[in-house]
Amino acid sequence: MLSLILAESSLELVPKEIQNHNSVISHSKKLGKKPSEIILDNSWHFGAMKGILNEIKRGRPDLVHFSLLEATSIPLYYEKKISIYVHTINDKVIFIGDDVRLPKSYHRFIGLIEKLFSEKVVQSEGKNLLEIKDMTFNQLLQEIKPKRIIGLSVQGIPSTCENIVKKLTDDSCIVIGGFPKGHFSNEIKKRFEYTVNVGLTSLEAHVVISRILYEYEKTIFM
Ligand SMILES: C[S@@+](CC[C@H](N)C(=O)[O-])C[C@H]1O[C@@H](n2cnc3c(N)ncnc32)[C@H](O)[C@@H]1O
Repeated sequence: MLSLILAESSLELVPKEIQNHNSVISHSKKLGKKPSEIILDNSWHFGAMKGILNEIKRGRPDLVHFSLLEATSIPLYYEKKISIYVHTINDKVIFIGDDVRLPKSYHRFIGLIEKLFSEKVVQSEGKNLLEIKDMTFNQLLQEIKPKRIIGLSVQGIPSTCENIVKKLTDDSCIVIGGFPKGHFSNEIKKRFEYTVNVGLTSLEAHVVISRILYEYEKTIFM
């Protein structure tokens, strides 16, 4: 089965070193939660995030929301022809179950993810919808065991989504960055068999996901 990994995704709880910042405390009070229980979001915590390690890749959970809505709202997913994983910037992996209907509302999505970080699993009728584990990108690959790993990046060789799909065998894995700026870390880049660029400019992750999965769908359903 095809796998999609959203890698180094900009999704994490507010880190310890900024939990005492005013913007974090006031936001957490508004939500009725502890600073350690809320998701880092640069639209709320911009001041607190200044100067933190890897700042440009962090605090954009909305990108993960868009990307997951895209990947879980298509026939490929409804027909269980794709497995979806979110690897985070802090080496956690969210396993997306095969019957998940994510909230379209951003606030409800964040509430769900905060619950997931706290309880580690979200279930419905005894089935795991979402599960989060401490896991590196390499450990995730060891679990999935893909035969081919294709990374999507503006740093890659120019190609088209159609051509990438031709390279996909069963059990291939597509890796897309779940971060707003910057590039994949070397640890991740070195696992790619091919690194491909599918646009004249940098695109949003959800746009790349929709284009490539649509091309793949055509080879399966049409
Ligand atoms: C907003 S971009 C991250 C910024 C980064 N400078 C970039 O464009 O690669 C999020 C992800 O979308 C994918 N992406 C964006 N533009 C792309 C392109 N032209 N070709 C292939 N993948 C692209 C990459 O996987 C990237 O990590």
